Amino acid sequence: MPNFTKVASTSDLKPGENKVINVSGTDVALFNVDGEFFAISNTCLHRGGPLGEGYLEGDVVTCPWHGWRFNVKTGISPVMPSAKVAAYQVKVEGNDVLVSVEE
Ligand code: FES
Repeated sequence: MPNFTKVASTSDLKPGENKVINVSGTDVALFNVDGEFFAISNTCLHRGGPLGEGYLEGDVVTCPWHGWRFNVKTGISPVMPSAKVAAYQVKVEGNDVLVSVEE
């Protein structure tokens, strides 16, 4: 059973916004895509840039450091599908956003 932790309220992130959160010692990038929440590793595969501080366009985030891109629903790069960061389970209960860092 995945272990879900409350990380935010639904009102904390508007559609199109993202932020870095910490779940049990793991930095996680949290995104609101059209009202739906998604979470992937905060650590870019290139040189470790903070994806939670990146630029979100649709369901793709661009790393703020050198521009690598990842789909926030799958963690997979749309440019290089072999490049994938961890994608985590998210659920919303009432106004709470919960994430499990177990893949
Ligand atoms: S660290 Fe993310 S693109 Fe370089």
